Order: sequence, then C-alpha cells, then structure tokens
Amino acid sequence: MIKMLAEKLDNKTIENRNTVPVSLNKLIAALSAAVDLAGSSDRKHSLRTAYIATRLASNMSMEKAEVDNIYYAALLHDLIPAQSYFNQSLIFEILGNLPLSSQVAKQVVALWQYKQGNGIASRLGHLSLSERIIYLAECFENQYCNGESEEYLLRRSLSNWSNRVAAAADKKIAAALADCLREEAFWQDLKENRVQRALEQMAPDWRQQLNIDDLEKVSRSFSLLIDRKNPYTGQHSQRVGMIAGCCARLYGLDSAMSRRVSIAGYLHDLGKLSIPEVILDKAGSLTEREMQAIRAHPYDSYAVLSEIEDFTDIARWAGNHHERMDGSGYPWGRSDLTVVDQIVAVADIYEALTSNRPYRRALSQGDALSLIKKQVAKGKIRLEAYELLEMTVESKNSCKEADNLANARGSSCWFRVYSGFDAKQIAAEGLKRIDRI
Ligand SMILES: [Fe+2]
Ligand SMILES: [Fe+2]
Repeated sequence: MIKMLAEKLDNKTIENRNTVPVSLNKLIAALSAAVDLAGSSDRKHSLRTAYIATRLASNMSMEKAEVDNIYYAALLHDLIPAQSYFNQSLIFEILGNLPLSSQVAKQVVALWQYKQGNGIASRLGHLSLSERIIYLAECFENQYCNGESEEYLLRRSLSNWSNRVAAAADKKIAAALADCLREEAFWQDLKENRVQRALEQMAPDWRQQLNIDDLEKVSRSFSLLIDRKNPYTGQHSQRVGMIAGCCARLYGLDSAMSRRVSIAGYLHDLGKLSIPEVILDKAGSLTEREMQAIRAHPYDSYAVLSEIEDFTDIARWAGNHHERMDGSGYPWGRSDLTVVDQIVAVADIYEALTSNRPYRRALSQGDALSLIKKQVAKGKIRLEAYELLEMTVESKNSCKEADNLANARGSSCWFRVYSGFDAKQIAAEGLKRIDRI
C-alpha cells in the first residue's frame, strides 16, 4: 500500500524543504499576536508592550543581552493565562522549549506570579529591574489603549501618569519613560499601524534563522499552551501533530516536510486561543453565538500562521483542518483539498474521537476508524488520507515493522518524525503515547 501511495505523490507540488528561512523574532512576534487574540481585542498589546519595554531598557543603557531578553519576555508576558491549572513548572516546560535564554522564562514566570499575587514577588520591589520595566511598560500600554481619544489629551494624561504612578513605583524607569515621552517619534511608533515595524527595527539578532528542530520546538511549546487552555482536550494538539507527521512520512514526504506537517498539526487549533474558556469547556450543546466563535478558530489559526515568513503551506494545512471534500466544511467551504490538508484533518478527527470529552466517552480505535471511513464513503474525506491514518494506527502495534517500512523507503524509523527518540525509546515511550490516542 505504501508503494501505491508513494506513486500518488506529486513531487512537483510538494518540494523538499531542508532550510527554514524564518527568523526567531518574527516567529515569536507572530505567535504572540495569537496570544493577543486571546484578549478581548486585537489591539497589539504584546507588540506595543515589547516596544515600550525595549525602548526603556535601551534608554537605561542596559547590556545588550538584557535588552534582548526584555524584548522577548515582554512579547511573551501574556502567554500564560491566569487560570488555576497553570503552574510554575508547566510554564517553565512551555517556555523551556523556546530557543531563548532561561532569563526570558524566569521573567515571564515572575510577572505571571506577580499578577496572580501568589508568588514570592508579591510586591513590585521584589521584581528584578527587567521585570519591573516590563510590568510598567504593560501598565503604560493599558493606559495608552484605554485613555483619551484626542491625542493631545492622551499625551497629557500619560505624562501625568508617568510623573505620579510610574515615578512612585520606580524613579529610574519613570525617568527613562519621561525621556521617551518627550520624543515625537516614540508617540508615532506607538500607533496601531506603525508599532509592528518599529518593534521589528529593534529586534535582536534579526539575521538569526531557525532550523527545523527549533521550529518544531517552538511549535510544540505553543501546542502545550493551546492544549492547556482547555484541559478537557488533554494533549489534543500534540497528538494531532504526531499522527499527522507519521501519516506524512508514510505518504512519502521527506523528514523536513513531514515535520512541517507535524507543525501544522501542533498549531492547527492556534485560533482556539481566542475562544473564551466558558465556551470551550461547555458540556452542553452550544448556542448559535457560541458555535460562531468555534467556527472562526481555523480562520484565526490561518490568519496568524500566514503572517509568518515561509509558513504558507503550514498555514494552509492548519487552516483547512475543518474543511471537507464536498464543500461542507468551514471556514471557507472549499473542496480543492490536497492529501496533506486531509492528513491534518483526519489526524484531528481521529484524535478527538479517541479521546474522552466532557460530553462523551472516547471511542475505540476501530470504531473511530470506521466512523471516518463512513465520511470517506460520503465524499467528505479523501481516501488516501484515511488509508494513511489507518496505516499509522495499525503500525503502532509493531515498531519493528514501522522501522522496516521506513528503511524500505531509505529513511530512518518514521516514528522519529515526531520525537527524535532512538528505537528503544520509541518502543518504550513513542508507542505508549500512540497507544493513548
Ligand atoms: Fe479545530
Ligand atoms: Fe483540533
């Protein structure tokens, strides 16, 4: 069957991608935009906070490495929602996968604890200078967005705020802020249509390109976050990424391309970050309004991912995961779906069906597969994608067989597509994970 599928592979449409011309700055900035979506508005809160904090740190003549850390920590400062099922170790786990200094994670955690009011940093004086800079930058940003609509009045009230509130919190930071406020360009840079560009110009190591390992690590970090946003879905995004990567490998894609398919799986529900928890956690049926919010999420995933350089294919695969071959899916209702679009879609359906949800129990693997097969018969799912899924599920019972299949295709064990484990670890851990899907 593998040979048959490999023959169907159109190498002209799917080129091999061994390099990843994506800079870390742009990736983190784009993903933090998804976090801003989780707020009530898309006002670029994280971008503007990062701009203000980086300007303050530069004005205070801090070391370049410290300024760079502040840039990233400010971009990510709202990454972790104020929910009880987040804790310090989970936050470190999420942030630890990012190819950034450990200081960034420390700063994000300290700020999160400060806002929770339950950590050691219960008073502002307990925060480090970098953390205080980010905190005051965030407060300033909130004042900026919620302040007067007339610009001259806004500037006046923010100067007052800087002289009173910021100065009472930290005199040195307030002095650096006052310097910024005297500069016309600072006010211009803060504007909605300019702040992103202004921030990019201050970005650290802008030439730094990510390799596929880093890209996968960052994506897995965000998949952890997406999954944690709604604990009822368990490890949904992580498992969709793994299953989709396995299907892609069996389809005949090379390691780099298969990992890009995994990344689409990890991030396919990124748009869910903007859906309120009350809707995601609801056990009963959804109202029309709630359903509308749910149906927007693949579009939001696409919108955020398509902003990232070189993510055109990943954005498409992720955005199409609720589309169906007969045009009955959403958000576009398109029917021109590729096998890879449908690989992410079947991985999503299969994972969801075989997991417990608040409103139903998990189906067995066999029942889930036959339900998806019925969708193939109805013309909703591509047969090739179903066959790849079936092979992935069947192959979980024999790691050796999987290795043989992969070797026959001139590559190493396809389970490595999602893990990087060696064969023994795959048997011990990889299969355990697959067993739970
Ligand atoms: Fe989804
Ligand atoms: Fe999903």
